[in-house]
Amino acid sequence: MQKVICLIVAALFLSTGAALAVSAKKTLEFNKSPMGTVIFDGTLHKEQGLKCKDCHNKGMFPKMKQGTVEITMDEIYAGNLCGVCHNGKRAFDAQSNCSRCHVKQ
Ligand code: HEC
Ligand code: HEC
Ligand code: HEC
Repeated sequence: MQKVICLIVAALFLSTGAALAVSAKKTLEFNKSPMGTVIFDGTLHKEQGLKCKDCHNKGMFPKMKQGTVEITMDEIYAGNLCGVCHNGKRAFDAQSNCSRCHVKQ
């Protein structure tokens, strides 16, 4: 019995640990572009009233894990990935706002 309780306590501890790790991570850095690092601010996007599934869906970023989707400007300009919103309608247009995403070091 004691062993079972130990396991439950351990499981609870592990699951809250994982939840904390996710919520503490509020920004993602994409640093593969020669134009400069792109900082994606999860909190800012959440404050725009966006739901997880607005981005975490089959056609966009299915996995909640960084690096699973290759983001290119061709995709963005074509209205995919970040470009679903960053098209001058739902959010600022990508073509004329490079430096709002790409930060020079
Ligand atoms: C505006 C778009 C957008 C919204 C809204 C969004 N995400 Fe994400 N999220 C992303 C992108 C982009 C990635 C990186 C995916 C990749 O690189 O393949 C990501 C990655 C993640 C990761 C992995 C982070 C890491 O370090 O690997 C987690 C966890 C996550 N999102 C959770 C959430 C949760 C929970 C919500 C809802 C509260 C949410 N996201 C809403 C765009 C979004
Ligand atoms: C579901 C819609 C949606 C998606 C997808 C989305 N964004 Fe946004 N984003 C917004 C909205 C809305 C704003 C705030 C309005 C604005 O600034 O035009 C915003 C703001 C931003 C800002 C803040 C810029 C500033 O100057 O304050 C950055 C940077 C940004 N997004 C990067 C990204 C990146 C990188 C991706 C793809 C990984 C992405 N966004 C995907 C909707 C989205
Ligand atoms: C909405 C945010 C956003 C805007 C605006 C934006 N980019 Fe990007 N860009 C990204 C993201 C995210 C990546 C992927 C970076 C990575 O994977 O590390 C990227 C990648 C790139 C790359 C490397 C991949 C490729 O497609 O060649 C180049 C070059 C680039 N951007 C140039 C630009 C230029 C030039 C502009 C303005 C005309 C611009 N970007 C505007 C988000 C943006």
